[in-house]
Order: sequence, then structure tokens, then C-alpha cells
Amino acid sequence: MKFFIDTANLQQIEEAASLGILDGVTTNPSLMAKEGISGTANVERHYRTIAEMVPGDVSAEVIATDFEGMVEEGKRLAGIAPNIVVKVPMIKDGIKAISHFAKIGIKTNCTLIFSGAQALLAAKAGATYVSPFIGRIDDINWEGMDLISEIAAIYQTQGIKTELLAASIRSSKHIVEAALAGADVVTCPLSSILGMLKHPLTDIGLEKFLADHRKVQEAAANA
Ligand code: G3P
Repeated sequence: MKFFIDTANLQQIEEAASLGILDGVTTNPSLMAKEGISGTANVERHYRTIAEMVPGDVSAEVIATDFEGMVEEGKRLAGIAPNIVVKVPMIKDGIKAISHFAKIGIKTNCTLIFSGAQALLAAKAGATYVSPFIGRIDDINWEGMDLISEIAAIYQTQGIKTELLAASIRSSKHIVEAALAGADVVTCPLSSILGMLKHPLTDIGLEKFLADHRKVQEAAANA
């Protein structure tokens, strides 16, 4: 399973990349706004910086919601760097745009997926990735992870190559569950990735190893 980080924050991308486990980055207009990035030139510069920081795919989302606008914006975004993937919302014109991008060799990530039907349609249109939003389904008291299992089963049964990218991940538990449910990729906040490191028995075990080592060192020094 690939690990993407879901942020437009350069320090967080740097920190995740330094672990040597980062396969890519996803962003969205809310994450770009959180970093205070606005204006075409600044947005494009920011995407270029991110694309140079990681060798893998970097999703950059279109703002346009009509076919012509999405195609124009998507081509511009794809031209920023070879690893930019154009993120397109799951709407009628979005599906048209994804089909168009697939024909001209531009990779896409179909975002705001909340059903198996949407994931099937996006794959049919030729999306490189689909992004089901787990946390937002949990937010309305449904079981977000069921959608990952459903899409994984559909794609496996149908031999679909579109990558299943579990998004709106809110915890390290979500990451493990997405892996079990058959996600190809998870995109997560840095806190969820770092949360995977933690186990109290690891801390206790390490403390004991080091204490035992210190003891024998001291004994040898005093002999
Ligand atoms: O990038 C899309 C997705 O991961 C958003 O997550 O936490 O805003 O629902 P969240």
C-alpha cells in the first residue's frame, strides 16, 4: 500500500519524506487555503515546490466545475511537473473531463467519492485514482471503511486498474483498517502517520533494553 500525505504544508511534507516512507502528496482547495496560498502564480509555484520534494504523484485540484474550465485548468496544472495528477470532483462534467484527460495521457484523481456507483463510474471514465472520503462518512455516523471494502471488491471482481485511494483519514487506526479493506493508497495527515509509531510496550521495552545495557556497562567499569 502506498502512503501519501494529505497536506499543502511544506514542513509536514518534508518531515514525512524524511522518514523514507512517502509515496506522494494530495492537496485540495481547503488545504491550500489553510497555507494561505492564493492567486494562480502562487498556487502553481507551490505545486511545483511540492512536486520537486517528492518523486511520486502530487494531486492538484481544479477549481473550475465546467468541462471546458476543468480541461483548461487541468492541462495547466499537469504542465507544472510530470508527477502532477489532476484532481477532479465527482460531478457530471468532472467525469467528462476525466475521460478527456485519460485520452490525452493526463493522470487524474476523482475526488469526493461517497459510493461504489461513483467509484465505478470514475474508473470507467479512466481515472488513475479514486478518493473515497472515509472520515466524512464516519462524521454522519455511517461506516466509512465499508466503502473501501465495497470499492475494493468491485475493482477486484471487474479487474479494474484504477487505484483505490482512501482519503479523509483521521487516525492511524483508519490507516490499518484501510490496508485490511484493500486500499491501494492511503492519504493521511502527518499526525496519523506518526501515530503509527506509537505503542506503550515499545517504549517500555526500549527503556528496559537500555537500562540493562547501562547496568552491564557500569558493572564492567567498576570491575
Ligand atoms: O484530501 C481530501 C480529504 O482527505 C479531506 O479530508 O479530513 O477534510 O475530511 P477531511
